[in-house]
Amino acid sequence: MEGEASLPLMAVSLFDTSTPLAPLRPEIDRAVARVLDHKQFILGPEVAAFEEEFASFCGAGQAIGVANGTDAITIALRAMGVGPGDDVVVPSFTFYASAEAIPATGAQPVFCDVDPETMCVTADTVRAALTPQTKAVLAVHLFGNIAPIDEIAALGVPVLEDAAQAAGGILDDGRRPGALGTAATWSFFPSKNLGCFGDGGAITTNDPDIAERVRMLRFHGSHDKVTYEHVGYNSRLDALQAAILRVQLPHLEGWGDARRAAGRHYENAGLGELVDLSVPAPGTRPAWHLYVVRHAEADALAARLGEAGIGTKAYYRTPVHRQPAMRELGAGVELPVTDELAATNLAIPMSAVLDRAQADAVVAAVRAAVAAPVG
Ligand SMILES: Cc1ncc(COP(=O)(O)O)c(C=O)c1O
Repeated sequence: MEGEASLPLMAVSLFDTSTPLAPLRPEIDRAVARVLDHKQFILGPEVAAFEEEFASFCGAGQAIGVANGTDAITIALRAMGVGPGDDVVVPSFTFYASAEAIPATGAQPVFCDVDPETMCVTADTVRAALTPQTKAVLAVHLFGNIAPIDEIAALGVPVLEDAAQAAGGILDDGRRPGALGTAATWSFFPSKNLGCFGDGGAITTNDPDIAERVRMLRFHGSHDKVTYEHVGYNSRLDALQAAILRVQLPHLEGWGDARRAAGRHYENAGLGELVDLSVPAPGTRPAWHLYVVRHAEADALAARLGEAGIGTKAYYRTPVHRQPAMRELGAGVELPVTDELAATNLAIPMSAVLDRAQADAVVAAVRAAVAAPVG
C-alpha cells in the first residue's frame, strides 16, 4: 500500500437488514397478531403454509421447518442415514456449525479444501477427501455462491447442501439451491438473506422418505407424541417466525436481484483492479450474502476502511480444522487454499439496499486505502 490516501464522502455499514424490512412492518405486525389470535404457537397452519411456500420457491418437493440451521444439518444427515462409523466430507472454510453438526450424528467430519476463486468446494476438493467410510458430502454454498452440486453428486456420494447463506440464488438453468442435492439445510438467522426475528431453520428435499424421517426427528422421533420411533429432537420452527418469514418470502427474489446488482456495480466501478473479487461459480447467479474480497494485507485494508466509515469483517480467520474443538480431527490436515483464504478474505458492505452511490463510496475508499502507505 503506497501513495496518498483520501477519505470517501459516505459511511457504509457492512449489513443493512432493517431498511428492506421497514416497509413490511405493518404486514409483519398483522402476521404476528394473527398468530397471537389463533394461538397455535408450535407447528400448525403458519409453519405448514411457510413450508409449502418455501418448498415451492426452492423448486423442492418438501420443506420442513426446524429450530435453526445447525439442527437442520444434524437432522438432515441422520435422515439420510448418516450415523456412527461414517465420514462426512465438509469444507473447513465455512462457519463452524457446518462441521459441528456432524459429530452430533455419531459420524465424523473429514475436512476438504475449496476453490480459491469461488471459495466453495468442488468435485476435485471433495474427491481428495473421500474415504471408504464417506456416507455424505456437506457442500456449503459459501457467502451465497453456489457450489457445483451436480459435479460433486457425480462422484457417487449423496450431497447435502448447506444453503444457510444462499437464499435467493439461482442457476442459469433456473434451478435453485435447496433442490440441487439429496437434501439441503437452511438457516433463517436474522442476518441471513431470508432472516426471521430469532432462530429458525429448514430442510428441503425431493425425497419423500427423507422428508418423512426429518418430520419425525424434529418432533422427538414421533408422528403423534404417543409412539416414539427414534431418539430425536425438539427442533421446530416457531409459528411466529414462520408467519414473519411468510411476509418476507415474496420479496426474496427481488432482494436477490438487488444483491446481484450491487455485486455487478462493484465490478463495473473497477473494484477488481484493487482487490480480488468474489467470483460466481460457473453457471450460477449468486444472491451475495456477503461480498468477500481478497487482499494480501486484508487486516491493514480493514483498518483503513474502518477509519473511512466503511464496515468490513474478516470471516473464518481460524478455519474449522484449526479450531480447538477440532484438534484431533484436524491434526495433520493440510488445506493450503483454506489457509490462504482465511488469511486474506475481507467482507465489504453488501445488502439488498446497497445502492450505486454507496458502492461507489466503498470502491473509492478501497482505492484510497490500497494507495496509502502501510503502518
Ligand atoms: C454456512 C452456515 N451453516 C450453518 C449455519 C448455522 O445456522 P444457525 O445459526 O441457524 O444454527 C450458518 C449460520 O449461522 C451458516 O452460515
